Amino acid sequence: MSETMISTAPEKRAAVSIKDLNKTIGKRHILHDITFDAYEGEVFGFLGPNGAGKTTTIKMIVGLLSIDSGEVSICGNNVVKNFEKAMNNVGGIVENPEMYKNLTGYQNLWHYGRMRSGITKERIDEVAELVGLTNRINEKISKYSLGMRQRLGVAQSILHHPKVLILDEPTNGLDPAGIKDLRDILKNLAHKEGVCVIVSSHLMSEMELMCDRVGVISKGVMLGVYSIADLLAASEGETEDYVIRTNDSVKTLSLLSGYNASCNENGDVELILPKESDNAGIADVNKMLIENGVLLYTVSLKPKKKLEDVFIEMTSNEQEGGQIV
Ligand SMILES: Nc1ncnc2c1ncn2[C@@H]1O[C@H](COP(=O)(O)OP(=O)(O)OP(=O)(O)O)[C@@H](O)[C@H]1O
Ligand SMILES: [Mg+2]
Repeated sequence: MSETMISTAPEKRAAVSIKDLNKTIGKRHILHDITFDAYEGEVFGFLGPNGAGKTTTIKMIVGLLSIDSGEVSICGNNVVKNFEKAMNNVGGIVENPEMYKNLTGYQNLWHYGRMRSGITKERIDEVAELVGLTNRINEKISKYSLGMRQRLGVAQSILHHPKVLILDEPTNGLDPAGIKDLRDILKNLAHKEGVCVIVSSHLMSEMELMCDRVGVISKGVMLGVYSIADLLAASEGETEDYVIRTNDSVKTLSLLSGYNASCNENGDVELILPKESDNAGIADVNKMLIENGVLLYTVSLKPKKKLEDVFIEMTSNEQEGGQIV
């Protein structure tokens, strides 16, 4: 009997599962039925403008804020019913991590590690290396720059090998090189060590480079969860848009009557061609215009909409005139 190979896509396991989460502080209903899953082995971006409810949600995940209604589970442990088990699987930085300025980076890690079992000197050296602080780990933190403190915060939060790492706006204050380093560290933790990494941000441009999926939140409402690869493919589209500048737009438009062409606000002609025609389609158009006596000045590709613009449209406060509500 011949053996049949059955290949199945690897099953995605939710490391953090959030269902119908609600929070009211004072008279303000801050979170409305927030629901999403973040998987093992992925970097999940929690993306939303200022005041959207990111920090509030994260605080509820890590047990710093009580839950009004709804559920949060970490590796299958409900954070209310099974608090300790749930928290054993989480590492994170929410707002400013607590550190002792008069102690060195190493001493801070050692001090923090004492609260957990099984943290060895080797593990401290390992995390210091991972976040690029080996050369400065024996200096007092009062001498650290903001970016170095951020790195130490990441080192501290992964010390105990958590299955879930949650970082609230981790790139705040980092320089471009620091952002890239952090991105690489987080991607490695997710993709090589299977950690579920959740990072919040208000910048899609940053999430696009760092995350596998993003959950978009606005005014306490989850607008959707999207894979970055799908978003990029959708924004690429199946057509190319050209802007054609000639000496006679009216004549150009009439010559292109069989095409999907129109005049834009600058008086130039915009032409949409299917992508699969490659360059042949635009070459035919150029030839035809020239043969009909049109002076062709420029033909340019119209830039595609950036994901950042898509996100801003999705979450814009048009009715409030840009005001935070
Ligand atoms: N302790 C509190 N008391 C009253 N309102 C609060 C409190 N904490 C947060 N809020 C309100 O909840 C809303 C969400 O705040 P949150 O800090 O979660 O937003 P965020 O998405 O993290 O924004 P940012 O990008 O500015 O950090 C805001 O309107 C904020 O004013
Ligand atoms: Mg915040």
